[in-house]
Amino acid sequence: MMKHIPVLLESVKTTLGNIQGRTIVDCTFGAGGYTRAFLESGAKVIAFDRDTNVLPDVQELKKQYGDKFVFFNKPFSEIKQLNANDFDDVVFDLGISSMQIDNAERGFSFRFDAPLDMRMDIRMGLTAADLIKNLSEEELADVLYEYGDIKQSRKFAKILKKELPTTTFQLRDLIKNPNDIAPVFQALRIAVNDEMGQIKSALQSVHDLLRVGGKCVCVTFHSLEDRIVKNTFRKWTEVAGDPRLPVVVAPEYKLLKTVVPTDKELEYNSRARSAHMRGVQKV
Ligand SMILES: C[S@@+](CC[C@H](N)C(=O)[O-])C[C@H]1O[C@@H](n2cnc3c(N)ncnc32)[C@H](O)[C@@H]1O
Repeated sequence: MMKHIPVLLESVKTTLGNIQGRTIVDCTFGAGGYTRAFLESGAKVIAFDRDTNVLPDVQELKKQYGDKFVFFNKPFSEIKQLNANDFDDVVFDLGISSMQIDNAERGFSFRFDAPLDMRMDIRMGLTAADLIKNLSEEELADVLYEYGDIKQSRKFAKILKKELPTTTFQLRDLIKNPNDIAPVFQALRIAVNDEMGQIKSALQSVHDLLRVGGKCVCVTFHSLEDRIVKNTFRKWTEVAGDPRLPVVVAPEYKLLKTVVPTDKELEYNSRARSAHMRGVQKV
């Protein structure tokens, strides 16, 4: 299985600036590519990942960096449990890792035949097969439409409810239009892991907890998560109040430069194709 190549890491490091002695929350540990780079630059790291498969990499970094590295095997919405004084900056590298997609038995990929699971955290929650079974036809159609932009979502939801696929290949073979295969898998994955709810909840906590001078940097991979991050950051950085009245409230945050991968990065990492890095700083 190919190890995950971190996306936009150099841009994230440049945006954060000098992190020597700072404490960074890495909300998406993955293969630890970002965390390792931050530790090597002299920062302390508090990391989250809800996948138990990341634990061997966590143990290795713990051995090397001791109490400079703290890890929570929990969803990153749990950042709300931290105190404002616990950290300086927060980083998200959203979505799934190459290890997750390439691990056949996780059920994320239509390239391998496996149980239709798709949970990032296999200790809890409904699998994609359970979700298809438990949602009503209408709810399932909404998931397919909202998270996969599937045009014939109602018709397809009806087929899914009738056939109740329990493996990746059974699901794949029910999708008539090959262009819909990846979007259907994406839609179910987003719903299984409540990915949009997680981002919204974590960003709300970051807004309230970040210290003055602290930065929040997000790398996104598709338009849905990017829209949430873009709109949230826009709201944080807008002047509040009625523009017709003399009293305006200065924004607490300023926008940092948005970055997309260079042609060079795309050459060695095709996963970076649709990535955007957006950031804000509390002022
Ligand atoms: C794109 S990978 C991160 C790769 C990492 N930056 C690196 O350099 O190795 C995303 C990781 O975030 C985790 N993840 C995604 N959503 C999460 C959430 N809501 N809570 C905790 N972990 C999450 C996934 O399990 C996956 O391991």
